[in-house]
Amino acid sequence: MAKILSVLSGKGGTGKSTISAALAVSLAARGHRVMAVDLDIGLRSLDLLLGMENRIIFDIGDILAGRCELQAACVPHPKYPNLRLLCPPISSRAEPAKELAALIRRAAEGVDYLLLDLPAGLGLSVRMAQELSDLCIAVTTPDLVTVRDTRTTLDLVLKAGPKPCRLVINKVNRAAMRAGGIIDLDELMDRIGAPLLGVIPMDPYIASDGVSLPSEKQRSGQTQKILDAMAGRICGEYVPLVLRSL
Ligand SMILES: Nc1ncnc2c1ncn2[C@@H]1O[C@H](COP(=O)(O)OP(=O)(O)OP(=O)(O)O)[C@@H](O)[C@H]1O
Ligand SMILES: [Mg+2]
Repeated sequence: MAKILSVLSGKGGTGKSTISAALAVSLAARGHRVMAVDLDIGLRSLDLLLGMENRIIFDIGDILAGRCELQAACVPHPKYPNLRLLCPPISSRAEPAKELAALIRRAAEGVDYLLLDLPAGLGLSVRMAQELSDLCIAVTTPDLVTVRDTRTTLDLVLKAGPKPCRLVINKVNRAAMRAGGIIDLDELMDRIGAPLLGVIPMDPYIASDGVSLPSEKQRSGQTQKILDAMAGRICGEYVPLVLRSL
């Protein structure tokens, strides 16, 4: 049974899908069996971010409607066959089915890590994180509104019982940080109440291309190293944070 990692944030656009795709690739590149599950029903993005948009024939809706078996909808990545992707319907306004959690548990069988890319908002994401996750990865940007919102989201998840949580601070402006112009990272961790998994700078490569299949140049770039280090920490390795070089 896989370790289930929920990637969540109450606010939209913090980078949940970008980070889910990158972590899925990094974990697979380390040789782990990974299932990436996009739960942004009607607004999916992992297929695009992983360069797999033309490979998805069946989705979660098809499984739940009995049109295909689970395995038929779990599509292997072209470069990393040990990474598979399970997508939600591309357009749907239907309420997520009650059987969704059970389906995800089944998808977690026989893999090492299942990454849940959760949608913005407090409903489905909080419920799925409560029910399924072994580790909640809360993604925030350094602005005060998103920080408070991330705290609220985690508080809601933890109402159902304690769970390990880690924090990712994304889209950090290097220049502002060097000049001390943004919220202090220690203070940010205190406000949210979760230890850091990683700090990711605002990166023009991500904004333009996504991070799914980085070119050699990008792979050797600092953002990729940060994402690989985050994957290492998820696997239990000690990888020190190097904040000064941001
Ligand atoms: N570190 C970064 N530097 C620059 N751009 C980034 C970074 N992280 C994410 N982005 C960009 O921010 C936008 C939102 O990212 P993404 O879709 O991953 O967020 P999300 O939290 O999944 O959004 P949603 O809540 O809509 O699902 C995208 O255009 C993405 O390329
Ligand atoms: Mg998303």
